[in-house]
Amino acid sequence: MKPKRRPLIAGNWKMHGDAAWAATLAREVAHRTARARHCDVAVMPAFPLIPVVARVLEGSPVAFGAQDVSPEEEGAFTGDVSARMLRSIGCTHVIVGHSERREHHLEGDDLVRRKTARALGAGLVPILCVGERLAEREAGQTLSRVETQVRIAMQGLDGADAARVVLAYEPVWAIGTGRTATPAQAEEVHEFLRGVVRGLFGYEVAEGLRILYGGSVKPDNIRDLMACPDVDGALVGGASLDAESFSKIVNFTE
Ligand code: PGA
Repeated sequence: MKPKRRPLIAGNWKMHGDAAWAATLAREVAHRTARARHCDVAVMPAFPLIPVVARVLEGSPVAFGAQDVSPEEEGAFTGDVSARMLRSIGCTHVIVGHSERREHHLEGDDLVRRKTARALGAGLVPILCVGERLAEREAGQTLSRVETQVRIAMQGLDGADAARVVLAYEPVWAIGTGRTATPAQAEEVHEFLRGVVRGLFGYEVAEGLRILYGGSVKPDNIRDLMACPDVDGALVGGASLDAESFSKIVNFTE
């Protein structure tokens, strides 16, 4: 029997679109997922599009958030966006440690830890991304890599804060490549990560923790992924840019 964790399906819109596009997509997503009672739904537009999406989603159960956040509270940090700013415009979630940030902006585990703590401090739910590169998988380092990422990012949290984190396992080789991890590959890592969190914060926090899978999630593979006991939802990139495919993923039980 699969434990009763409420799934979360989150769309990462990355650096796509503009204001008109975002308004249309958000409206369509709200409309097409309105009957989804079995899971939480969230979308993450680029920063300037968030207020546009917020307006459209007013009164809808679809949550929204950002794709990144500053590790600093406030001050002279040109170009950065604070957790408080995000919270003040209605964001509930924020992605931290996405592999594209790690890759293109050289974000390391320690920075990801500071962002995670900052998000939690402002009342945001961090969607904390971890995942191995292809070379690491081929070298048999998948589990040690994701363990290090989680241990460092969650360092210093107390149990109550740890329980609010959403983990996202996103193998780098599966992102935007059309190459999804098999359900068995995903489950192996998810089960392992839950064990790591159990070791750090105890049984209850680990059992309640939501661990999303991300990496080429599509309408035709979501069901098998969601059937895995430790897969509690998905972080969707490419397929979240189309209202029809995203809503099919959300409505995977139908
Ligand atoms: P993808 O992206 O679904 O396009 O592979 C996932 C992600 O980057 O979160």
